Amino acid sequence: MKLTLKIWRQKDAKSKGQMVDYPINGIEGDMSFLEMLDVLNEELINKGEEPVEFDHDCREGICGTCSLQINGEPHGPDRLITTCQLHMRKFSDGDTIVIEPFRAAAFPVIKDLIVDRSAFERIQQAGGYISVNTSGNTIDANTIPIAKHAADEAMDAATCIGCGACVAACKNASAMLFTSAKVSQFALLPQGQVEATDRVRNMVRQMDLEGFGNCTNTGACEVECPKGISLENIARMNREYYAAGVKG
Ligand code: SF4
Ligand code: FES
Repeated sequence: MKLTLKIWRQKDAKSKGQMVDYPINGIEGDMSFLEMLDVLNEELINKGEEPVEFDHDCREGICGTCSLQINGEPHGPDRLITTCQLHMRKFSDGDTIVIEPFRAAAFPVIKDLIVDRSAFERIQQAGGYISVNTSGNTIDANTIPIAKHAADEAMDAATCIGCGACVAACKNASAMLFTSAKVSQFALLPQGQVEATDRVRNMVRQMDLEGFGNCTNTGACEVECPKGISLENIARMNREYYAAGVKG
């Protein structure tokens, strides 16, 4: 395949970025999207030019780092996959592909296609944990009965990989889907009840402090989420938040 790539280039966080065109040849349908970028970068390096910086780690849909906006969609045109799992067979010979970083005020661009998503880590640090007594009388988690549907829903929520596609897809750059998945995975389990009130308050407060927008129920986040995280989690987080307010 012969393609034209229009890629966001930005030297550093303070520089003004711009779209730059790169023609590329010899792309196979079986290549992943990131392998296609590897080919481009080899060409750029051989020509003595700066390669395009992009984030990646596992390249198998687990780590959530490969955040690219491809033709206006987070993780590109396929559903329920990350950018690293996207294959070039989804595109046709002669296509122009627009590649940008995830856009959100709370995700500032560091360089080219890499954004700073440490805001998500700070939301996690605000309450995404449980405390367990390990002083000698620890209760084995497996001895606590958990209803099957609750275990399943908690597991589904826990599959969020923190990629940020929900934020990039949302016209308000809201982080409600991410935060609600992280609240839900504990709210559904007995182990999560001890700190439930503080958890939802602190995580929502941190989410607001980071500058993410409000949720207006457009549902774009759920459509673009590579892990199929459900809007049900947002409803659950809202219930948890109101319940925490009633407790005072
Ligand atoms: S909710 Fe989905 S889109 Fe948002 S961070 Fe988690 S996995 Fe990514
Ligand atoms: S590189 Fe890890 S999810 Fe894509």
